[in-house]
Amino acid sequence: MKVLSVASKKGGVGKSTTAVTLAAHLAGRGRTLLVDADEQLRSAWYWVTKKEGYAGWGFDVQLYADFIARADPGQGYEFVVMDTKGGEDRDELAALARNSSLLIVPTKPDGVSADGLVATLQPLLEGGTTNYRVLLTDVPPAPNSDGMDMRLELDNADIPLFHHSVRHAVAVSKAAREGICVRDVKGDRYAKLVWMDYELISREVLNHVR
Ligand SMILES: Nc1ncnc2c1ncn2[C@@H]1O[C@H](COP(=O)(O)OP(=O)(O)OP(=O)(O)O)[C@@H](O)[C@H]1O
Ligand SMILES: [Mg+2]
Repeated sequence: MKVLSVASKKGGVGKSTTAVTLAAHLAGRGRTLLVDADEQLRSAWYWVTKKEGYAGWGFDVQLYADFIARADPGQGYEFVVMDTKGGEDRDELAALARNSSLLIVPTKPDGVSADGLVATLQPLLEGGTTNYRVLLTDVPPAPNSDGMDMRLELDNADIPLFHHSVRHAVAVSKAAREGICVRDVKGDRYAKLVWMDYELISREVLNHVR
């Protein structure tokens, strides 16, 4: 069983979007369970259970309380994707990484410096935690260079990064509102493109954990 945790200190950076969409990709590779560990918002849970009769997910979903109440949590699953509430400090992130095959830290490049993120993540490396990757999400299109600027800044600080990024696409929030996978959003070609972004990310995840 491979546990992929999605977490960050900052809120609203694309954790739930990443957890849900990554789980939909991994479901094509092996039996997958999505666990919503954000007990307050339950965004992933609501997204995935919203549309009655929708069969486009391919994975199972559990709330964290139900997950840990089991005798053997995650048994029978090849992939367990864990969406978290956010706000984790460096020690909590390090603990999450220790208990995961890979910790995914989504970040939205917003044009401001990456110093805060570097300050949070560098101690993990210094403490010997290397099984995490920053994922740039909601990256604005060229000629805006916020994504590339942030990538360079993190790279210069030796923070491990996914090679691919996830572009900005309104189809993502549309998918969440409709309770469907972004792949199934109609009439928006960016829906397919952002789905492909996550396909590349899921391949990187598999390369890392296999
Ligand atoms: N690639 C993207 N393109 C456009 N909007 C995006 C993208 N990824 C995420 N968003 C939007 O950003 C907002 C926050 O995303 P999401 O809920 O996934 O973040 P989160 O980190 O889980 O937030 P929270 O900390 O509240 O749990 C949502 O409105 C979502 O639709
Ligand atoms: Mg969330």
